[in-house]
Amino acid sequence: MGLRLEQIVPWGRSRSEYIQMFDLTEADLQDKILDCGSGPASFNAEMTALGYSVTSCDPIYQFSAEQIQQRIDETYETILGKVQATREKFIWTTFRSPQEMVQTRMTSMRHFLADFPLGLQQERYQTHELPNLPFENNQFNLALCSHLLFLYSDQLNLEFHLASILEMCRVSPEVRVFPLLLNMTGETSPFLEPVMQALKEQGYTVNLRQVPYEFQRGGNQMLQIKTS
Ligand SMILES: C[S@@+](CC[C@H](N)C(=O)[O-])C[C@H]1O[C@@H](n2cnc3c(N)ncnc32)[C@H](O)[C@@H]1O
Repeated sequence: MGLRLEQIVPWGRSRSEYIQMFDLTEADLQDKILDCGSGPASFNAEMTALGYSVTSCDPIYQFSAEQIQQRIDETYETILGKVQATREKFIWTTFRSPQEMVQTRMTSMRHFLADFPLGLQQERYQTHELPNLPFENNQFNLALCSHLLFLYSDQLNLEFHLASILEMCRVSPEVRVFPLLLNMTGETSPFLEPVMQALKEQGYTVNLRQVPYEFQRGGNQMLQIKTS
């Protein structure tokens, strides 16, 4: 069955959030980067404007900018309401209030929407769905995945997590995933340990790294996987 837009809550972060979430150095930024589950984040648009190389893939890119914009407008108030109702689960330093957080994210998503038509033409935005990517082995240097794996462990099973990470490892010698929490619970995903164990058994080097980003309380670790 095809993806239905009403199943998706589009929400996108900025380049500066990506840099902190994945602890990206200038050398990392120079890499050929693949962003999986990139949605309406402005990372690709901002990186491209600065001359870096990012390819983003997400099933949401099958829809038009107008359709994605409409879905963002439909979900905006719901997200604001949820964050306001659970504000103690977040750390309010980067953003001073739920309103400021939502406004910042809307700015990022508007940036994405403005870049989306050109990015599609340039194949910087591609409609693909984990766990299957159509790329060559090691086509990229660094693959990122933010706010998809682990976060939705109540909807995406262990098999999906492992297959998705192995597929990212196939197309890139280094993979980083953030955050590692199960959505809104503040608890680490129950899949983290079994995924790490399975990856180690298959010969990957696996590290948990603290990062300089913590918005959801307790969400300040990324998983880093290297093929050697
Ligand atoms: C919460 S958004 C995160 C967007 C962005 N990475 C960020 O952190 O700002 C999650 C994204 O995952 C995408 N997604 C859902 N299932 C996917 C799959 N199987 N493969 C790739 N992306 C998927 C959704 O369409 C959505 O855009």
